[in-house]
Amino acid sequence: MTPEEHPLHQHPTSPAARSALHRWRTDRSGSDWWRDAVFYQVYVRSFADGSGDGVGDLAGIRDRLPYLADLGVDALWITPFYPSPMADHGYDVADPRDVEPVFGDLAGFDALLSDAHARGIRVTVDLVPNHSSDRHAWFAEALAAAPGSPARARYVFRDGAGPNGDRPPNNWPSVFGGPAWTRVPDGQWYLHLFAPQQPDLDFTNPEVVADLETTMRFWLDRGVDGFRIDVAHGMAKPEGLPDMLPTADTGLLADHGPGDHRFDQDGVHAVHRRVRRVLDGCPGSMAVGEVWVSDDDRLARYLSADELHLAFNFKLLTAEWDAEELRTAIDSSLATVAATPAPACWVLSNHDRPRHVTRYGGGELGTRRARAAALLQLALPGAAYVYNGDELGMPDVDLPDEALQDPIWERSGHTERGRDACRVPMPWSGDEPPYGFSASPQTWLPMPAGWGPLTAAAQAGDDASMLSLYRRALALRGSSPSFAGDDLQWLPAPAGCLAFRRSGGLVCYLNLSGAPVPVPEGRVLLASGPVDGGRLPSDTAVWLQT
Ligand code: GLC
Repeated sequence: MTPEEHPLHQHPTSPAARSALHRWRTDRSGSDWWRDAVFYQVYVRSFADGSGDGVGDLAGIRDRLPYLADLGVDALWITPFYPSPMADHGYDVADPRDVEPVFGDLAGFDALLSDAHARGIRVTVDLVPNHSSDRHAWFAEALAAAPGSPARARYVFRDGAGPNGDRPPNNWPSVFGGPAWTRVPDGQWYLHLFAPQQPDLDFTNPEVVADLETTMRFWLDRGVDGFRIDVAHGMAKPEGLPDMLPTADTGLLADHGPGDHRFDQDGVHAVHRRVRRVLDGCPGSMAVGEVWVSDDDRLARYLSADELHLAFNFKLLTAEWDAEELRTAIDSSLATVAATPAPACWVLSNHDRPRHVTRYGGGELGTRRARAAALLQLALPGAAYVYNGDELGMPDVDLPDEALQDPIWERSGHTERGRDACRVPMPWSGDEPPYGFSASPQTWLPMPAGWGPLTAAAQAGDDASMLSLYRRALALRGSSPSFAGDDLQWLPAPAGCLAFRRSGGLVCYLNLSGAPVPVPEGRVLLASGPVDGGRLPSDTAVWLQT
């Protein structure tokens, strides 16, 4: 299909466009495309700025589609680009069915979608059901309405504790610091698990669930291929909103574990079943959930046949650079999905956590390890998510206090710096900021000096670069039968090394032992570092065809 033939060149909701869209969906090979897809996470503010205001946008993504096609990714996940006052950089959504002017408009989204599809790249978008922005029309209505009114019943408003109701209704903390409750002038309190500008919605209210379905249909009708569901372990709250329980050992309120009543409540599964029903009506579409739970069995519950297609497994993102830890992370991720219809879903970095180059030690060491980690991640069976800039080996950036924008910085009373370090804009070309990211030198987060060699342009011409490694890895993964099969078999390997075989014949061998080891038999398909003389250096991985 040429870009002109794409259904979205017609008005997206016209009957002709709908039937063309149906054809486009059913034409695509297999509806389970997501099972082994490589998704590329576009943090929209930081990927590419098409309008020249220093903030990334949809036009910037559209301009860079040739880059993404050359990179070889199968699908995009675009972080929220909906109208938002940006208290949490788009995760505070004022209208989930429109485009924030800073990022473009609906026509610009349609054009991006159509061009991406024409290049064979699928597009998934963020769905943020747990909360809205405090500037959402519903919240304005709720504030104007009386306690106990239907407008308040879309959110979680409660009377306070204590004789005057001047204490929060329970002891829940906000994930971003401080209490999870804010008081309104008439004395009631509303719940916000994140910033006060992100009031939680009440999913026991049928209107709230119906509105989520309307939002999903809105984007599916335009042609999106699926959703990443934000805080997919949120939404349901326990009856009576009981206090969280301190853990026995520390006496502290634990995040995301037993005793944390804010998340992973049984009622959440009913919401996921509703979400799945909408997706089942749209063959070829899918959802991946951001599910932070401490227990593998709890995670598996989100992956039953009538719930999520995929759930991020964050074990690789939290594991240290240590052979045993990585092996445990892989085993437990595979065990989690074994009894479900879902494949595993691997993540090394995202917009909420320190980038893996930095986690692995930074500098030359962190980069060498990140190269090996890329071959590990992309050799594993299942889907993989690459965060924009992973393919350039971007590190975190030490930003000055005055540049910090993450609400965590303020909410923690300046004790936690938040997530800006991993959200610095991508360097595209040139030798100084803004490195082709924007026409404006004032980028929304400052870009450091010295990133010339990190730019996509500099790396594209360098065979030994991180970008060239990713391109080769993705090309092999997408074309070689060695990557077939859902299973993984561990092979004997020296202490500090990991080796496994896929049923298609691929062997991935990773050396973290601190000393070179002999490269096993097989044809070398790709290596993250030199394998001269039949020896694999430490912090290096190799793909072999056996
Ligand atoms: C998710 C997002 C994060 C956001 C939070 C609240 O964890 O990944 O960026 O701040 O949800 O929406």
